[in-house]
Amino acid sequence: MQHPYPLHLDLTGRRVLVVGGGPVAARRVRELVAAGAAVEVVAPALCEDLRDLLPSLTWLEHDVRPAEAPDLVAGAWLVHTATGDPAVDAAVAAAAEARATWCVRADAAELSAAWTPVTVRRGDVTLSLTAGGDPRRARALKEAGSRWLDSGAAPLRRRRTGDRPGRVVLVGGGPGAVDLLTLRGRRALAEADLVVTDRLGPRGVLAELDPDVEVVDVGKTAGNHPVPQDEINRILVEAARSGRQVVRLKGGDPYVFGRGGEELLACRAAGIEVEVVPGVTSAFSVPAAAGIPVTHRGVSRSVTVVDGHEATDVVRLAGVGGTLSILMGVSMLPEIAAGLIAGGKDPATPVAVVEKGWTPEQRTTTAPLADIARVAAEAGVRAPAVVVVGEVVEALHEGGRA
Ligand SMILES: C[S@@+](CC[C@H](N)C(=O)[O-])C[C@H]1O[C@@H](n2cnc3c(N)ncnc32)[C@H](O)[C@@H]1O
Repeated sequence: MQHPYPLHLDLTGRRVLVVGGGPVAARRVRELVAAGAAVEVVAPALCEDLRDLLPSLTWLEHDVRPAEAPDLVAGAWLVHTATGDPAVDAAVAAAAEARATWCVRADAAELSAAWTPVTVRRGDVTLSLTAGGDPRRARALKEAGSRWLDSGAAPLRRRRTGDRPGRVVLVGGGPGAVDLLTLRGRRALAEADLVVTDRLGPRGVLAELDPDVEVVDVGKTAGNHPVPQDEINRILVEAARSGRQVVRLKGGDPYVFGRGGEELLACRAAGIEVEVVPGVTSAFSVPAAAGIPVTHRGVSRSVTVVDGHEATDVVRLAGVGGTLSILMGVSMLPEIAAGLIAGGKDPATPVAVVEKGWTPEQRTTTAPLADIARVAAEAGVRAPAVVVVGEVVEALHEGGRA
């Protein structure tokens, strides 16, 4: 045989016959249903996976006798056999051959007229591969293909946009380390024409993008003023309207004090498709970087995430049990500490201020609540930092806080 001829088929609404009701048939049928085929399964019984696919398939509940094969095959665009009975599979394959219909035999690849490749799908990209009839080799290659597509190294960016509408992906970039960005977020970046970034987040990843990807930094301008939210919304909407794939790369998680909700609503109001990719929030990960678990059995069973700008109601938080993880709290630290103590929090409660988590400049300053504002000021603590209030600050002390 020469090299096989690879081909992708549009099976929408086309009749595909699957003979057999076991797990192998189920794997095939799932793909066929996803491809929109009109699938007919002939089998005396269906395995559970196939039953789960009802009513997306038509079930002809009977055995197949070889003599009936020609009638069954009539009118099918494609046939799959997976009965486990070589005589039946052979009869169905022969009937298909006689009608010039492609038949994939699960029982004997070497006797089959067609094969289904192993595939890896990411959005509208499909990698199909065959590996000389060696399923374990094919699986290993599939895993390597998956890793490559997810790594961000695959050149996924569209070169021909056609009339595809633009879209916006709000990506939570995590606290700063490039390898704390999710695979989904990295993939969105690999597809982006425009990246709108912030001051925080994994800025190192920007150097890995194609040189012709436009990067707009809205975290600060020359005068150090951040771009107003309305203007950010406008940039996102206009770029997507012009057909571009836009990534809004944000620090941490987009929905944790990230104004992700506002950006989502602005895009939706403009009729732009939006996807949200969650991120590793600094509220939990920055304490972790300093060896502080935000909850710990026997120490704290809850954690409250607080916007430190809103220190006015901090007295109320004094009564909330568990751990407080306070973001944007550095400038108001004296008011926060005083308010918590005024609200009844023990002045001896341990506090840690973790600056620039997950970066080489990470630093942790600790003191009891009564002293933390003075100690932090003396140490010259600056934003960005997460302030952790609670016994968890000491929970792993024996293990050595970083
Ligand atoms: C506007 S909020 C955004 C939070 C973000 N959406 C998240 O989920 O982490 C910015 C604050 O997050 C905290 N923050 C973010 N990244 C940090 C980091 N690497 N180290 C310390 N604090 C960080 C600081 O409190 C900073 O002032």
